[in-house]
Amino acid sequence: MATENMTSGEGELERELTGMLEIERFDPPAEFVARANLTDPAIYERAEADWQGWWASQAERLHWFRRWDQVLDDSNPPFYKWFVGGKLNVSYNCLDRHVEAGLGGRVAYHWHGEEGEEEEITYADLLARVKRFASALKELGIGKGDVVGIYMGMIPEVVVAMLACARIGAVHNVVFGGFSAESVRERMEFSQARALITVDGAARKGNVAAVKQQVDQHMGDLDHLEHIIVVRAKGTPCEMREGRDVWYHEIVEAADPECPPEEMDAEDPLYILYTSGSTAKPKGILHTTGGYLVGASSTHQNVFDLHADTDTYWCCADVGWVTGHTYIVYGPLANAATSIMYEGAPDYPHRGIWWELVQRYRATIFYTAPTAIRACIKWGPEHPGKFDLSSLRLLGTVGEPINPKAWLWYHKVIGGERCPIVDTWWQTETGSIMISPLPGITSTKPGSATRPLPGILAEVVDERDGTPIEEGQGLLVLKRPWPSMLRTLYKEDERFVETYFRRFGNETYLVGDAARRDKDGYFWVIGRIDDVVNVSGHRLSTAELESAIVACEAVAEAAVIGQSDELTGQAITAFVTLQGELDGSDEVESLVRAEVAERIGKFARPKRIIWADDLPKTRSGKIMRRLLRDIAEGRALGDVTTLRDPTVMAALEEKIRAEQASIEE
Ligand code: PRX
Repeated sequence: MATENMTSGEGELERELTGMLEIERFDPPAEFVARANLTDPAIYERAEADWQGWWASQAERLHWFRRWDQVLDDSNPPFYKWFVGGKLNVSYNCLDRHVEAGLGGRVAYHWHGEEGEEEEITYADLLARVKRFASALKELGIGKGDVVGIYMGMIPEVVVAMLACARIGAVHNVVFGGFSAESVRERMEFSQARALITVDGAARKGNVAAVKQQVDQHMGDLDHLEHIIVVRAKGTPCEMREGRDVWYHEIVEAADPECPPEEMDAEDPLYILYTSGSTAKPKGILHTTGGYLVGASSTHQNVFDLHADTDTYWCCADVGWVTGHTYIVYGPLANAATSIMYEGAPDYPHRGIWWELVQRYRATIFYTAPTAIRACIKWGPEHPGKFDLSSLRLLGTVGEPINPKAWLWYHKVIGGERCPIVDTWWQTETGSIMISPLPGITSTKPGSATRPLPGILAEVVDERDGTPIEEGQGLLVLKRPWPSMLRTLYKEDERFVETYFRRFGNETYLVGDAARRDKDGYFWVIGRIDDVVNVSGHRLSTAELESAIVACEAVAEAAVIGQSDELTGQAITAFVTLQGELDGSDEVESLVRAEVAERIGKFARPKRIIWADDLPKTRSGKIMRRLLRDIAEGRALGDVTTLRDPTVMAALEEKIRAEQASIEE
């Protein structure tokens, strides 16, 4: 089943999961259930009986300037419309209405800087800052429908910028701060952005990266990019180009402190977020206003069992990824939650910093990625052991399958065996969590995201004909629209249909993951079936990586695979053939790595480079990645008879043997 295309690692994971499958099952702790918002399992049946009614009930959580006429328009699948006719504003829902309800003094974010700086930002503060910046954007001529890029780290201004765009109906396009300036340029170009909001410099584990300087080297040739707005974050020297660049603090100071929220249609775009797909060109996932906010708010409330008046919630993702969009910004703010926002890395200034912050702010809910948990396991329990984690009552994970060992460690060492764990499966495309426990209801099994949330219809189907598989392995699909689903790929409707709906028709969303269902109907997500690699929860396309590597002058051809890695889930291995008689020296290796850093970002650099004389190809010239994965992981090679030149594999095996021998020496 699906083995041909599956990324590496599932074999080992599969064995581990199979072994654990029946060993442990954790019921929601009685103490947790006693205080939980949702405890009645009938919620699933009620939502199933009237799923549109369920989503309408969730939409009631928001403030609508005008109520919708129709919950779902499904007349033209897969182009669905939700809450048709409804009018609302996301920033109004995230800020104004809470302040109007008397919650202006509530802390929205306890912001903590890398060097220990602190800022307590209340809902009233945040609203005032958003209004001013929204006015400033308007004064620059930015308005409804304009695309605005955002490229900065985890500082409060990133949230202000996102909400200010939402307030005036501009469409933000956030680029993760770890991406290179070249990636930013590409994303600004694809989205025809009119403005870019960035920083002079960004903190990177005690150093400061000169962000604006790097941006300047790449952005010059974009005519449509009229403005670059620079937040003075670190005092890093940079040039300001007359007529294009302005300082954030200057335009904000001069701006009108009032800025009424734009009344947006439920289906007006809220943001674009580029993510990796099967080809080298990133996909611009487009999310809209009403449905997205309903999904964000509803799932944040239900999955995290939020008690907004008493919880201190912490999602330690980066705002540059969808997890940050939905569960640092929109979900928590829509729900009037108090969050922690941390600028830095989990190991700076020391390996216990996360736990120090849990203690400091008395965090009650903590949401992170399995790769971070595995890093913490490696660093040792003494780091969390130094701090008081007794405030925690719920833990979450996202981004990749969590191996049961890491799940159990998280449960024991961080959760003190009293906190339920919500393993949340979703994607940039789904906008919000799709498969996850409801912590006051669902029994959990380590490694399983358990079951679809109320209203969601997920299935595992046979890859050949799409027949549902009740128990066993196949492709994961979503068989019913949901409010926070992507509406299209920005300016690429055809690619949208082709990528997600070609396989099983316009009403079945192809997720791109393989999964398994067990006898209790629980879902076990295994990994991607396409050429997407998941490194530390960062989604990378092999095609994108290959095109960065071949951009290096010395390189003739490259094939990239994801190899399973204890720490990062998957790691990038590149098979590279060089031009002419060149040899794979350390110098060439650093050139290749530098090229990837420049074109995509440092986090995308290959962990392992294997110099090859030739790559295994089919007779039609397609590189057989399956064989590369087998050989890299030391597995017996499958069928090689379809290769144009079967001797290529023997030569590669020889190379790998030599590599192994030199490591052992
Ligand atoms: O393969 C799945 C994996 O991450 C992919 C989505 O990546 P991205 O769009 O970057 O969003 C990540 C954060 C939502 C999925 O197709 N994935 C995400 N969550 C899980 C997961 N795999 C297993 N278990 C999860 N909980």
